[in-house]
Formats: sequence, structure tokens, C-alpha cells
Amino acid sequence: MLNDDLLPIVKFASNQDNEKPMIKIAIFASGNGSNAQRIIEYFQSSRSIRVAMVLSNNPDAPVLERSRKLGVPAEVFSRVEFYETDKIPAILRKNGISFLILAGFLWLVPGNLLKTFSGKIINIHPALLPKYGGKGMYGMKVHQAVIESGDKESGISIHTVNEKYDEGQILFQAKCSVESGDTAETLAMKIHELEHQYFPKVIEEEVLGNRQ
Ligand code: GAR
Repeated sequence: MLNDDLLPIVKFASNQDNEKPMIKIAIFASGNGSNAQRIIEYFQSSRSIRVAMVLSNNPDAPVLERSRKLGVPAEVFSRVEFYETDKIPAILRKNGISFLILAGFLWLVPGNLLKTFSGKIINIHPALLPKYGGKGMYGMKVHQAVIESGDKESGISIHTVNEKYDEGQILFQAKCSVESGDTAETLAMKIHELEHQYFPKVIEEEVLGNRQ
């Protein structure tokens, strides 16, 4: 039973626990959403960072259902809304978002978002940039190109986002080997494993490092 006299003490203790406000991040994703799910789950136990919303350009993307199941609201936007209005920055502002994470998001980020979230947009790419980056290089297309090239290694790149595809500052890379029996599918599995292992941790470091 809670005694009224104890309330100020209880309140004081919980304030101390939560001295710094939660940093809210939003995930942008266009497809399956295994990375988004991993990131949401990772930060569910964080005292500093929370995934507050997921946004997608694709109404059929499985990421929407994955997010909602984990209690994270997910919204869909159109090409016109993204490129020709300030609807998305307004939604993000209203929800107190301070970082954007692109996890399998396939559209180029427009100037209004780059300006509002300057240096605070992070993307993951499933290859060792600057190789296999640029327009049209996403998902299985990247793995197919790596297999066809005969490269003996591939990996992941986590980077800040600018006005060009896959050309921001690289924050982190991790490698894996490409064996002679590998196919685009088996390489994709290796890459996803690396992504799930490192992406949430790199986000955490970057977001906390940027905290004012
Ligand atoms: C990930 O491998 C990510 O690196 C890639 O899409 C996949 C999304 O998987 N992103 C790009 O290719 C961007 N150029 P997921 O939907 O299971 O997280």
C-alpha cells in the first residue's frame, strides 16, 4: 500500500533514475524490417534511447506489422508527402524525434529532413562502401553484384546521410568472407547477421555521443 507521506520520496527516487530525458529516434524502412525489429528490441531495455515511431514509403512493408506488434506506432507516407511537403518533419517534431535511422530505406532523403536533422541521420548499407553503393544498389542487388565480382570479402557500412546515395561519413564497417560456394542468398544471411549484431550498438554510441 502506498502511504501519501511517502509519495515525495518515491517521486524523488524516480526522478533521479530518469534524470536525462529519453532520446527518441525514428526508423525509416521500406521492406521486411528485420533490422528495425532488432533496433526496437535492443532499445526496449535502454534508459536513454527509445524507438518512438517507424515510417515507411511502402504500405505493404512487413516492417509496419513488426513495429506495431512491438508497440511502436508505424505510419506510411507517399512520395508527394515526402518530397513536396513538410509533413514528415512536422510529424517528427511533434513526436520529439532527435535522430533518424534508415534501416532498409530506399528513397533519397530530401533537403528539408537533411537540414532539420543535420548529421543526425544514419543509414546502413549491406556492402563495404565505397564499393557497391549508389542509386539502385540495395538489398539483393548488392549481394548479387558482390558474388559476380568474385570479391573474397563483403560486409556492412554504417554512415551518416547526405544528399547523395551512400556517400556520407562512414561511422563503422564490419567484414565477412565470401566463400566460393556462397550465393547472393547465403551472403545476404551473413550480412544480416552482422547488421543485427552491430547496428543497434553503433546507433547507441552515435546518439549518446551527440547528446547535448
Ligand atoms: C539490409 O540489408 C540493409 O543493409 C539494406 O536493406 C536490407 C534491409 O533488410 N539496405 C540497403 O540496401 C540500402 N541501400 P531488413 O528490411 O530485413 O532490415
